[in-house]
Amino acid sequence: MKVCVTGASGFIGKALANALAARGIPARAVLRPGADVAGLDSRVERLFGSWDDADFLASAVAGRDAVVHLAGAVRARSAAGFNAVNQGLTRALARAVRGHAAPEAAFLHVSSQAAGGPCATPPGLDEGLPPAPVSDYGRSKLLGEAEALALAGERPVAVIRPSMVYGPGDRAFLPLYRLARLGLLTAPGDAGQPFGIVCVDDLVEGLIQALEALAGGRLASGSIAYLDGPEISDWRGYARALGRALGRTVRVLPLPIWMLRVAALGNELADRVGLPSSQLTLDKVREAAQPGWLCSHARAARGFGYDPRVGLDAGLARAVDWCRKEGLL
Ligand SMILES: NC(=O)c1ccc[n+]([C@@H]2O[C@H](COP(=O)([O-])OP(=O)(O)OC[C@H]3O[C@@H](n4cnc5c(N)ncnc54)[C@H](OP(=O)(O)O)[C@@H]3O)[C@@H](O)[C@H]2O)c1
Repeated sequence: MKVCVTGASGFIGKALANALAARGIPARAVLRPGADVAGLDSRVERLFGSWDDADFLASAVAGRDAVVHLAGAVRARSAAGFNAVNQGLTRALARAVRGHAAPEAAFLHVSSQAAGGPCATPPGLDEGLPPAPVSDYGRSKLLGEAEALALAGERPVAVIRPSMVYGPGDRAFLPLYRLARLGLLTAPGDAGQPFGIVCVDDLVEGLIQALEALAGGRLASGSIAYLDGPEISDWRGYARALGRALGRTVRVLPLPIWMLRVAALGNELADRVGLPSSQLTLDKVREAAQPGWLCSHARAARGFGYDPRVGLDAGLARAVDWCRKEGLL
């Protein structure tokens, strides 16, 4: 199977492209000029170009048996900014696949639990429930899904909705790790919010399983599947596991949602006038304020044998180890 991977300069895309290369599966990375390819396996073919160039996208998907779409925006200043990337890129890629990929080539679209919405009741959301996103990010991911699923009648297409993802290669959690090294972990609300979280190693295994099942006709076109980790967590359990990984006690510092809103508002204003700002936005606070983010991978287990094994202790140990090796922590 020859695979085309978009977003291969990002956290998850790089991990997937490297895992494919390690298994001897020819992988082609679709990259923007100047993309950070440090750590990308040298066996991965690199194709640089612009997403505005239809010929570039056509050459990216041509001759591939499968396309995995991971390029996306996890942060943006506005709904329009999210939509331009999460819907716009998917539309452009779907057009290229329709016109230039072999009719049997599979299209695996990586969405997010944010497209399905929040849930605080175990075992969590399943694919049968109507989507109810609460953030601009989630709505843009749902619009992206629709662009991918529009191809489902013509060729094998599936949508994967991962929960929050962490692990080696990720820098998004770095501020939390750095604070935890000092013995503190800030958490939204009362810190009891239950959530699913998946180590990138489990997620990548699940993506490859889904891809093989889709290409082999064992996963029906049009399928949607949630992928989370082996256990449910909350910020207190997370702090304990992170403390074990760091070798120290980490205390949770619950932050009231109103305080996060004020901080996000200040941050967005600073960003607008060109002052230094952090990643905290009102859209992220909207997500953080939900009672829970649980999803169930039961359908993925039945459909393509997904079986996550990396619990928080092992996953955070790997993540912290990677950060230390990179000199980040
Ligand atoms: N991380 C999570 O917790 C999580 C959870 C659920 C779902 N997801 C989804 O998984 C996917 C990958 O996430 P990630 O965490 O790996 O994100 P990431 O590290 O930020 O990587 C994003 C990738 O998308 C590319 N990209 C972003 N904007 C683009 C644009 N306008 N045009 C072309 N390429 C663009 C980036 O390319 P450059 O390097 O050139 O910027 C990069 O390769 C996303 O679709 C995200 O929604 C992530």
